[in-house]
Amino acid sequence: MSATSPARAKMPSDIAAMKGVSPIVCLTAYTTPMARVVDGHCDLVLVGDSVGMVLHGLPSTLGVTMEMMVLHGRAVARGISRALVVIDMPFGSYEEGPAQAFANAARLMAETGAGAVKLEGGRHMADTIAFLVARGVPVMAHIGLTPQAVNTLGGYKVQGRGDDAQRLRDDAVAVAQAGAFAVVLEKVPATLADEITAMLAIPTVGIGASAGCDGQVLVVDDMLGMFTGFRPKFVRRFGELGAAAEQAVADYAAAVRAREFPGAEHVFASELKEPQK
Ligand code: KIV
Repeated sequence: MSATSPARAKMPSDIAAMKGVSPIVCLTAYTTPMARVVDGHCDLVLVGDSVGMVLHGLPSTLGVTMEMMVLHGRAVARGISRALVVIDMPFGSYEEGPAQAFANAARLMAETGAGAVKLEGGRHMADTIAFLVARGVPVMAHIGLTPQAVNTLGGYKVQGRGDDAQRLRDDAVAVAQAGAFAVVLEKVPATLADEITAMLAIPTVGIGASAGCDGQVLVVDDMLGMFTGFRPKFVRRFGELGAAAEQAVADYAAAVRAREFPGAEHVFASELKEPQK
């Protein structure tokens, strides 16, 4: 290999090797243009099932289908050349058991080009994670608040407070022992997230967890201020693109109504004044 070999996309082993070395930067993406924007800055790009709420207006992630994930996964993979693309397994595509999970994980990876899948759940998903990993499917686990279980959890609540902390420690150990290459910790107390991060050999990626996690992930539309339906406490807006878009559309509407757009520079003459190059 020469010193000038083209950069290759990161692999799950590259992400795992970042633990204790440098923070892992992750964002979601659902489209090719956004994938192109985030690729140069992120180590891992997640095609999250949050796509259902963010782009399709669904009330939760429960209505997201395999077809939606394949379509968005392909679009994202087209825009990525450096980051690892991880794709969410949607609700109902893996919970029946390892064989169902493998069939759907293999389809997601084969049809999108993603390098790994993510699935929600702790101890009860350990056998499935081990089955997938043994058959060539790298798995990122997701514990704490698992949005696909919103109905059994009784809402989007902080998980692992008080006596509930041991459940999360056990979940974290179980998914790591099963072979997950990383684990998302969503909406857990900061001290517990730090404890789990110190305890595990695999990286933790926090969302509403702790700055001490090995990495952070946010929904890209949240941090850009594009998705303004609601604003979780753990989101910092690094931009206000929703407001900027609203203003641009209002300016366009005003310009059309005032017959000020299109201007002379946007329209075509009936005769060519000079030969075209
Ligand atoms: O679906 C998603 O976007 C996620 C992240 C928020 C972790 O699971």
